Amino acid sequence: MDNDIYTEGKAKVYKTGMSFLNPNARASRDISVAFVKALGVGKTALLDATAATGIRGIRYHLEAGIDDVSFLEINDRAYADLARNLAMNSIRGECAINTSIQEFANTTERNFGIIDLDPFGGISPYIYDLMKVIGQGSSYIMATATDTAVLCGAESKACLRLYDAMPLHNELCHETGMRIMIGYMARIAAQFNLGIRVHMALSYMHYMRAFIELKRGNGAAMSTVSSLGYVGYCNSCKAVYCDSGNVPKTRDCKACGSRLQIGGKLWTGSLSNKSLIGDVVANLSDQEAETKTVNFAALIRDEIDIPFHYSLPAMTRKMHIGSVSMKSVIDTIEKEGYKVSRTQFDKDSIKTNAEIDCVLSAIKKAQ
Ligand SMILES: C[S@@+](CC[C@H](N)C(=O)[O-])C[C@H]1O[C@@H](n2cnc3c(N)ncnc32)[C@H](O)[C@@H]1O
Ligand SMILES: [Zn+2]
Repeated sequence: MDNDIYTEGKAKVYKTGMSFLNPNARASRDISVAFVKALGVGKTALLDATAATGIRGIRYHLEAGIDDVSFLEINDRAYADLARNLAMNSIRGECAINTSIQEFANTTERNFGIIDLDPFGGISPYIYDLMKVIGQGSSYIMATATDTAVLCGAESKACLRLYDAMPLHNELCHETGMRIMIGYMARIAAQFNLGIRVHMALSYMHYMRAFIELKRGNGAAMSTVSSLGYVGYCNSCKAVYCDSGNVPKTRDCKACGSRLQIGGKLWTGSLSNKSLIGDVVANLSDQEAETKTVNFAALIRDEIDIPFHYSLPAMTRKMHIGSVSMKSVIDTIEKEGYKVSRTQFDKDSIKTNAEIDCVLSAIKKAQ
């Protein structure tokens, strides 16, 4: 009997049902539980909008102290599993509704302080309707996209169609995709007179996940729109430019004069609330999360909050030299008095506020 049950954190769900359950998404769930705990908002209502087994909502209830949890599941057979799982975890069956996000959002009078969206594929079919059930006060949405081929530019036409943005299919593809996803959420939020603040953004394994706070008001919405803009990448010297604005402001490379490759529209603002992420890391350790999950969260905490990064292999290829030690490049840039860190978006890249010339001379020195 116990062989039929999957345990994660304090939740137990049946393995034998028809609903989707991916043990590899455990890191996403562990980090999300740690995030909700770090918010410290036990009294708020939470919606697990794409529940499947219900494992996320069950964990928020049992581990993050969220009393009022609701679950949506469109698929009848998955819904039957969800009902069984709620009963096994002593959660009332009325919390679960066998319907779609779209149907629910257009008929309910309820609203939620925290929403978890974890669909198959992209987020674009759901965000508009979910904005209708966002709470009146400060509220949060945690959203996962697994359509990384679209967001990272392998299917750029689909990205234009679904996210109204041009992706990049190069060294910057993951951060560009993450910022396109957040930019899309920001544009829809602004239509509902909501502004966004990004507390945390993960690009991990096969998915991207954004943890976003929504604040009501024209001022918040306008300031969100003014943080949208474009990235420009120089395929020749590898310089990167990122500016807010309605049209790309920098079209030619200031370092070498080449025409830039433009990505966007996208979110150019902050991707992290460092003190909250510090709490997430501490909570993950308390939750006895896997070491690789704690390390990944620590990497995000320590990553400097500057748009985009320099790819060392792209630069050394361009310089016709062999690979160099990242540690040595980081040490040299730090000694010059600049901020510099590794980045979750590419293991071979660095983020820094130094100009490209400083990065190039640090690479030469590391040879
Ligand atoms: C990737 S699974 C969710 C996995 C789950 N959150 C977890 O962590 O294990 C997505 C679920 O959303 C459901 N779904 C798809 N479209 C939906 C919609 N429009 N409204 C509500 N649920 C939907 C699917 O039936 C599926 O069970
Ligand atoms: Zn250039």
